Amino acid sequence: MKTEVVIIGGGPSGLLLSQLLNDAGVSTVVLERTTREHVLSRIRAGVLEDGTMNLLRHAGVGARMDQQGLPHKGCYLTDNDLMVHIDFHKLIGKKVMVYGQTEVTRDLYDAQDRMGTTIIHEVEDVVIDGADSNAPTVSFTKDGQRQQISCTYVAGCDGFHGVSRATIPAAKRREFERVYPFGWLGILSRTKPVNDELIYASSAQGFALASMRSASLSRYYIQVSSTEKVEDWSDDRFWEALKQRLPRPVSEALVTGPSIEKSIAPLRSFVSEPLRWGNLFLVGDAAHIVPPTGAKGLNLAVSDVFYLHDALIAALKRGDHSGVDGYSAHALSRIWKAMRFSWQMTTMLHQFEGEDSFAPQMRRASLAHLAQSETARRDLAENYTGLPF
Ligand code: FAD
Ligand code: DHB
Repeated sequence: MKTEVVIIGGGPSGLLLSQLLNDAGVSTVVLERTTREHVLSRIRAGVLEDGTMNLLRHAGVGARMDQQGLPHKGCYLTDNDLMVHIDFHKLIGKKVMVYGQTEVTRDLYDAQDRMGTTIIHEVEDVVIDGADSNAPTVSFTKDGQRQQISCTYVAGCDGFHGVSRATIPAAKRREFERVYPFGWLGILSRTKPVNDELIYASSAQGFALASMRSASLSRYYIQVSSTEKVEDWSDDRFWEALKQRLPRPVSEALVTGPSIEKSIAPLRSFVSEPLRWGNLFLVGDAAHIVPPTGAKGLNLAVSDVFYLHDALIAALKRGDHSGVDGYSAHALSRIWKAMRFSWQMTTMLHQFEGEDSFAPQMRRASLAHLAQSETARRDLAENYTGLPF
């Protein structure tokens, strides 16, 4: 088999890259380890920056998002009973869209079906050879048969545990990591969201987030220690912990119900540099992970795709290699700024086990400063709604 770009991973970054490349007449093959149903069952990110919305529209997959997504003009940050409203729209004229990653992925799969692109599911043992040569190959096993694809470029869109980053020799990359001593326990429930805007809550009991997927579907998270097991959290225990962390008038309005999904995600900051080795490029979670506070994970994957699709089209259609040569530096410059914002939001809103008495005072002062200073709110709004591509 032969194609121009092999894309490893059929998550949001791989599918969006495939969509944009095929639209420009570049041939691709997407290799995905799991089934489409499995990819679509993973409940993950929920907030889209406006740059993400624009790229999805440009890729022809924005219609359902525009119909069914919930545009949000602001959000709240709270400290016990203090509620600070960040009015993005008033401060900087921008909005975000609450539209789940599962829906974005479904729209991309449907668009790929309409375009007739090649996506091979349930591939095993993907191996990238010759990534540092002009003739890379990608081999894999499907239904017990070993197959090989020759290509010009390989895009590693295979997430944090994929093969792409591991293919780059350790001596050719640098890793930067911070692991946080807590995770987020999240639940989805068919209940009316407690507030019409998201609430990021710092409290004496730890962090909580009140989010949503629609007018009748809520998504809530609470900070839990890294050693916690999801089996130990009954719905009742979760709702009780959430109530204690939200400001009193909010928790009094909380509608509870049975969870329809419950999971724990660890929190880490991670970057592997550079994003290119020869003709292999890393995209999204394959190259970097942010803690979810601030909703940057999916949005960063999309901005990587923005830079890379443009670069690959210029190289393959016009013989202009400046974009592929600049991809890593260009994408990393934005990635590090989102890393900083996600780390800052995480530090400002979470309790760290064993912290000194100074730490909660700093969190309280950060929130009090946001309450008082429009400049501080504008800075937060600028980062939250997304820095320009
Ligand atoms: P992924 O979505 O990880 O997709 C990678 C794909 O590659 C997967 O489909 C995988 O099956 C496939 N793959 C892996 N290895 C191979 C292989 N060897 N061969 C072939 N295919 C392979 N972000 C937020 O903003 N807010 C959130 O609340 C949030 N919650 C999250 C919860 C969890 C549990 C996780 C893991 C992430 C969460 N994120 C969140 C981050 C966000 O979901 C990711 O940033 C986003 O999914 C990145 O997209 P991606 O396509 O780069 O990677
Ligand atoms: C959601 C997740 C986030 O990490 C975030 O910052 C906001 C919303 C969500 O899943 O709805």
